[in-house]
Amino acid sequence: MRTMESCRVWAPATVANLNAGFDSLGCALAAPGEFMEFKRVAEPGIHLVNGPGTHLPLDVDANVAGKAAASLLRALGDPFGVEITVTKSILPGSGIGSSAASAVAAVVGVDALTEAGMRRDELLPFALDGEEVASGARHADNVAPALLGGMTLIDPSGKVCALPVPSSWHMVILHPQVVIKTAESRAVLPAQVPLSDAVHQAAWLGRLVHDLHAGNELEAMYALEDLLVGPHRAALMPHWAECQTAARAAGARAGGISGSGPSSFWVCRNAEEASDVAASLAHVMNAHALDHHLHLTQLSTQGAHVVS
Ligand code: HSE
Repeated sequence: MRTMESCRVWAPATVANLNAGFDSLGCALAAPGEFMEFKRVAEPGIHLVNGPGTHLPLDVDANVAGKAAASLLRALGDPFGVEITVTKSILPGSGIGSSAASAVAAVVGVDALTEAGMRRDELLPFALDGEEVASGARHADNVAPALLGGMTLIDPSGKVCALPVPSSWHMVILHPQVVIKTAESRAVLPAQVPLSDAVHQAAWLGRLVHDLHAGNELEAMYALEDLLVGPHRAALMPHWAECQTAARAAGARAGGISGSGPSSFWVCRNAEEASDVAASLAHVMNAHALDHHLHLTQLSTQGAHVVS
């Protein structure tokens, strides 16, 4: 049997929290996504190379992909060396799971090259070793959907539940070109929340899961409520009240902060509505002369995978 000498992996951007499930809910997007290249080399260990337009630290322990890949390769007994070319398309600090995409692509690539044949849930802890480099924490709300695709829910014990994918949802992602550090975005959150808010939030998440399983994809949009986190982070988001008003007026059925920001996500019923929402958001950004990126996309049922 021929051994695999090289491979190319695609990994998706992801939206964490989705309003209803802080630190537990997330979904994979069909776009944007990014590619990572892997090559067998004689010298043992992980060797990092920056692809075009990418300027990441090449020290393995300081690099999300490097750390995740090294962690998995070590667990597999360091059978050979792997050169990884990292090309970032999902911009770091965007709030759409840039580090998770790197961590997940790294473990999927090493698994493929070593022909280890590991299950996705077995790869998760190694990807989290990489995610920890970026965020200082082992949050799986971006990593799990980047690895499994679709929408995932992580329970407090770390069990990952794959939820039915609302394939009719059209998503608009707005990425204003400002930096909000995750640590800063977490620092504004209260340590305690009122019991009534916690109860209502649990009910919204329960209803979301119910609607997804019942196939009520439109109803599920209306369960994307955020009582616990969004209100505290709103002040960090540029022109947030205007964005909310504009997106709702243009037809967005739900929306909120993507992960810890600065990106936001907006859920629409069809491509036409999404296009109107994107135009309205662009109008707000342009009125304030704020550089931004917009992505019109849907959920990806596939997580990171080998493309060649
Ligand atoms: N759930 C995390 C947060 C996502 O909102 O802070 C960012 O890692």
